Amino acid sequence: MGKATDKELIVNGRRLDGREPYHMREIKMSVDEISSANGSAKVSFGKTTAYASVHGPRSLFPKFLQESDTGILRCRYNMAPFSVDDRKSPGPDRRSVEISKVIRRAFEPVLFLEDYPKSTVDSFIEIVEADGSTRVTGINALSMALASAGIPMKDLVAACSVGKISDTLIVDLNGVEDNNSESDVGVAMMPQKDIVTLLQMDGILTKEELVMLLNLARESCKKIYQIQKQTLMEKYRGAE
Ligand code: CDP
Repeated sequence: MGKATDKELIVNGRRLDGREPYHMREIKMSVDEISSANGSAKVSFGKTTAYASVHGPRSLFPKFLQESDTGILRCRYNMAPFSVDDRKSPGPDRRSVEISKVIRRAFEPVLFLEDYPKSTVDSFIEIVEADGSTRVTGINALSMALASAGIPMKDLVAACSVGKISDTLIVDLNGVEDNNSESDVGVAMMPQKDIVTLLQMDGILTKEELVMLLNLARESCKKIYQIQKQTLMEKYRGAE
């Protein structure tokens, strides 16, 4: 969330990139982008592009980190230095540590980690181009990378951002919208089970606006889920 901008963000009912308020940007998805990974995926929402790679389940070292009755999921979210207009200093910062943690928690409910005692599933999200909504784009990629690695899952995880700009509720915030929003909300859910696994909100909304945005997020996640499913089915159809 940022300060109000001098620019009008909605003109004649359209956003600056021409979208109607509830429209998402063009979505592109592919799997098996990284040959050294057990599973990987690339997802773009407009100019925001995330790669995800999954390694494991594999033995966890050093041994003192092992849990005898369950496996663990490790997750690292990273924005490449060249992913934003002003070069981002490389390496972890408070923001990326927090985002890594909430992404891990968004996935723990869908995995059967108790089936992998003493092991780890290591996951990495690399944002190569950032134009808003990077954490949700990364979540969509990681969901497909896990499925592509053949790791049993109770459901996929689909995610999107919703928010409010110029007094208007919108779906899938781009960078300028995010930086000038009155509120932005990141949502991840298990679309078939209808369970929310991540919900983060910045800014101020009325209760009614929040309920409306959550419904918009739910509808959008279901659309995203269909694209994820179709992309994964194409992979397995191709393997026949
Ligand atoms: O990306 P997401 O919406 O999940 O997280 P955010 O912290 O709300 O960041 C919003 C946007 O600000 C990002 O998507 C980037 O476009 C931009 N950003 C940036 O330009 N430089 C940073 N160091 C962090 C974010």
